[in-house]
Parts: sequence; structure tokens; C-alpha cells
Amino acid sequence: MADHNYQGLEILYSRQQIAERVAEMGAQITQDMKGEKLVMVGVLKGAAPFLADLARAVQADATFDFVATSSYGQGQRTSGAVRLIKDLDHPIEGKNVLMVEDILDTGLTLSYLRKLFMQQRPKSLRIAVLLDKPSRRIEKIEADYIGFSIPNLFVIGYGMDYAERYRNLPDICVMSPDHPE
Ligand code: IMP
Repeated sequence: MADHNYQGLEILYSRQQIAERVAEMGAQITQDMKGEKLVMVGVLKGAAPFLADLARAVQADATFDFVATSSYGQGQRTSGAVRLIKDLDHPIEGKNVLMVEDILDTGLTLSYLRKLFMQQRPKSLRIAVLLDKPSRRIEKIEADYIGFSIPNLFVIGYGMDYAERYRNLPDICVMSPDHPE
């Protein structure tokens, strides 16, 4: 699994491993949707590459929407509070919604969003995450579709950032706490 690239960053999942797993997730979602329409709601900005790839692996009549929340800010620490920065563009009442997020970590973001979305009475609400860090959970929430379950590591790449950088790395890398940045 370990590989070294990007000046000392260790690759946790390569672009090929990601592509294979996303294809499997897409096939599973296609099967579960049973030909119904779907609204894929990405959580900006980290979920953008994952949503783009997952959407193309799902065979369904799908539309996109995006929300944005406050998250880690300028470092590896979270403030604990979640704030909505950008709301949905379109109502989701009576729709099949798939929330698409890069990482399920403490669960604060997705439980906040799930509560918010449920107020609109969607027909169904499912969650797809690329990475799950179950050991970090504060809120009781599980995803319906999980790419990879990982230990408590800080990761970057494939949408995920450290102080807004590294989102465009094609692989998922581990950033050690003593990385020079
Ligand atoms: P949660 O609300 O704690 O579940 O975290 C949600 C958000 O925290 C994720 O969508 C990421 O934006 C961010 N996050 C959590 N872990 C990491 C990480 O290892 N790298 C980069 N961002 C992270």
C-alpha cells in the first residue's frame, strides 16, 4: 500500500485503486436506485472530484446540487461547529437524494446536513462517502456507501485539502503532522 511520491507524501490509495472502488460503488448505487431518478448533492469543496467520478459510474437519471459548510479552516483541527455557507439550489421534497462527501470523520457535518435535508421530506436520503474514519466519530451516523474505511490519519488529495492546498493531487496521500507543508 505504501508508496512515496509528491516530495515525501505517502500514497494511501492510488488513482487506480480509487477508480476501481468508485466504479464498484457506482454499480451498487445503480442497482439500489432501481431505475429511479436521483439528486446527487455534493458537499463543497472536497467532494467535487469524487462526485464527478461517482456520477459517471452511476447509471441513473441524475441531477447535481451542491452545499457548502464550514469545516477545518486553516489546519488539521476542526472547530466542532458546522455552519451552512451555501444552501441547495433546488428543493428536494419527494426526491431520492444521495449526499456525496469526501470524508466521514466526526460525523458533525453529515448529521447536520442530514437533519437539514430531512426537514424537506425527501423520498429517500442516502449517504456516499469516499473515506470513513469510524474511530473519530462524535455523532452517531453511518454512510450507506463507503469507499474505504481508514484509521485516524490526515489525508489529502482527490479533493481533500490541507489549508486549501493539495486538492488536485490525483491520489489520496497521508500528511504526517510534521510535514513541512
Ligand atoms: P466531520 O464533520 O468531522 O465528519 O468532517 C467532515 C469534513 O472534515 C470532511 O468533509 C473534510 O472536509 C474534513 N476532514 C476530515 N478529515 C480530513 C482529512 O483527513 N483531510 C482533509 N480533510 C478532512
